[in-house]
Amino acid sequence: MEDFIIAFQNAAKEIQELLKTSHTDYLSSTNSSGDTQLGIDIKADKIIEEKLLSLKSVYGVCSEEKSEAIYKNSGSYLIAYDPLDGSSIISSNLSVGSIFGIYKETFESKNLIAAAYIVYGPRLELIFASEELSYFIYDGDCWQRQPSIALNKNGKINSPGGTQKHWEAKHKALIDSFFQKGYRLRYSGGMVPDLHQILIKKGGLFSYPATLDAPKGKLRKLFEVFPFAFIYEKAGGMAIDGKNRLLELPVDGIHDTSPCFFGSEEEINEVRKTYE
Ligand code: AHG
Ligand code: MN
Ligand code: MN
Repeated sequence: MEDFIIAFQNAAKEIQELLKTSHTDYLSSTNSSGDTQLGIDIKADKIIEEKLLSLKSVYGVCSEEKSEAIYKNSGSYLIAYDPLDGSSIISSNLSVGSIFGIYKETFESKNLIAAAYIVYGPRLELIFASEELSYFIYDGDCWQRQPSIALNKNGKINSPGGTQKHWEAKHKALIDSFFQKGYRLRYSGGMVPDLHQILIKKGGLFSYPATLDAPKGKLRKLFEVFPFAFIYEKAGGMAIDGKNRLLELPVDGIHDTSPCFFGSEEEINEVRKTYE
């Protein structure tokens, strides 16, 4: 797993430089999810693809910006990644990220064996989870290991995704109930900084529900939902689609999406009561 950590750290430094210097204009192309692509989405995708495919143990990769997976002739790990999560908030200079899921032999939730994300913010940070969670901050020279992260049983942050106009009534009631209990709204529009904030502050809820306009949610299983589900569970939290554990969901194509809720134990139990 050490090879993966080094590859992610090297990709992080290159992409951070790109973010500082590149134009963030939209291209005329769209990806498989129908999102308009930025030039920088494609550049970040290439940087990560090259780093990962050069590892002997990697058999193939797929990403948000590729319609199909790319395979080599050897290796046993498959990596699904979102090269730049939060492309729509780059122009306003908010934090964005990259997300990775490492799968053994097939792109299935049961074969996810490690996950990681990078935060491109005022600081460059990497979280990597396999058996344990590792947290690194780049100091401009070296990656400094930090004390590990663990969630408490509950928190104070509420990060509700999706267009409110299209929420189901029961979902709106659930989100309102957290505000009534004193939770604070924290939502940047990038799942990496939003989920990272909940981890660093040790608790809360991030939701991206099924909506009337997107009944299967927006966030993609292989490279957004499953990696964060894996990381949240390793941090002592929970991750469900409303009813089921996210890491037990089937996958129907590499761009398949799911409603998702990530958080600490008490918040997720409240979600379950609403959705069961
Ligand atoms: P991407 O930029 O990779 O397409 O993903 C953006 C995602 C995610 O980061 C965020 O939580 C969500 O889209 C925000 O969506 P809404 O603007 O609909 O809340
Ligand atoms: Mn994304
Ligand atoms: Mn993306």
